[in-house]
Amino acid sequence: MTSQTLQQVALFEKCRQFTKAREVEAAGLYPYFKPISESEDTVVTIEGQRRIMLGSNNYLGLTHHPKVLEAAECALKRYGSGCTGSRFLNGTLDLHGQLEQAIADFLGKESCLVFSTGYSANLGLIAGLVARNDVVYLDKLDHASIVDGAKLCFGETTRFRHNNLASLESKMERDLGDRAALIIVDGVYSMEGDIADVPGLLQIARKFGAALALDDAHSLGVLGPNGDGTAAHFGLSDEVDIIAGTFSKSLASIGGFVAAPDSVTHFLKHHSRPLMFTASLPPANTAGVLAALEVLQSEPERREQLWANTRQLQEGFRSLGFDIGPTETPIVPVLNGRMENTFLFWRKLFEAGVFTNPVAPPAVPATECRLRTSLMASHTPEQIDFCLETFAKIGRELGVI
Ligand SMILES: Cc1ncc(COP(=O)(O)O)c(C=O)c1O
Repeated sequence: MTSQTLQQVALFEKCRQFTKAREVEAAGLYPYFKPISESEDTVVTIEGQRRIMLGSNNYLGLTHHPKVLEAAECALKRYGSGCTGSRFLNGTLDLHGQLEQAIADFLGKESCLVFSTGYSANLGLIAGLVARNDVVYLDKLDHASIVDGAKLCFGETTRFRHNNLASLESKMERDLGDRAALIIVDGVYSMEGDIADVPGLLQIARKFGAALALDDAHSLGVLGPNGDGTAAHFGLSDEVDIIAGTFSKSLASIGGFVAAPDSVTHFLKHHSRPLMFTASLPPANTAGVLAALEVLQSEPERREQLWANTRQLQEGFRSLGFDIGPTETPIVPVLNGRMENTFLFWRKLFEAGVFTNPVAPPAVPATECRLRTSLMASHTPEQIDFCLETFAKIGRELGVI
């Protein structure tokens, strides 16, 4: 038998038809998968040029903290480079248990389960918990990992309008009946930077006997009196049933978690396929997160600086006339309409030495493309001023402001 040519394989037809990204590339505007060849915290080298990183989720600037690096190095030497198996079988380290205890204590939850990514934590939480005959309620702007978790579960999924309590309540009234329900939302929305209305959601959850889960990916280290997240920000840590999150942002590594009552994490340990059928978080990452969590608590000045930087950038953008939407956090999107305009704006900023993230469909509607900027505690006021001046110059040139 001879091998088939690419043209003969029907399954690949969609790949041949997909030309959009190559067209953007040919126009010199393709902004994705840019390799970073060196990173010094707020400054990265891409294509041989140093640029200010204004698009990371490294909110506290801990990826280069000496204590985090030292802990990761020690664990690498002690346990090796990987766990080569799932938590369920050969892949649980004492470090995973220590991290679970530390997160549970930090968030005031009974128990915690560590996953290999924040994405799989959401998948594992929803698919593990929401069974046939249950219902899961999602905010329309929930993160893709929540949407995918809902797709994977056997229960029914209902989406309500963004941060709109009336929309949620009317949907629950209309179709929940006597079924069990989970409401799950982002604590801080990753593309908008606004905060979930936790007190309102909690009232509705209680009214219908539903569980409330928050995805605190962008809130840990950012919101709350101790950087302990969205529930703590509202003084509702005890009331919110489940807190999920990631280690890939403030905690400067990779991995995710679900903090919940002990009976829930115990159940997930034995029913959550994204936990049971994938290899566990590597030693260096686990130890690095433990160290980062300690630094997060022992150096509150980092969080204060992050908020000072956030005020500087938000006020700067607003006074220049940019539309940054309803953001209340270090995630600061600059809205500029269609994808072509956004990519051109991105390219000019990139050439001028400022790295941002262009956000286009399917992450946002076609007319609501944006440059997502985000702050770090380690940005200097001078770096932020430089970014603002660069945005202003290019924004005027392109007629955005
Ligand atoms: C709100 C939210 N949840 C979950 C995730 C997934 O986290 P991870 O990168 O650890 O898979 C992200 C990351 O982009 C996120 O923004």
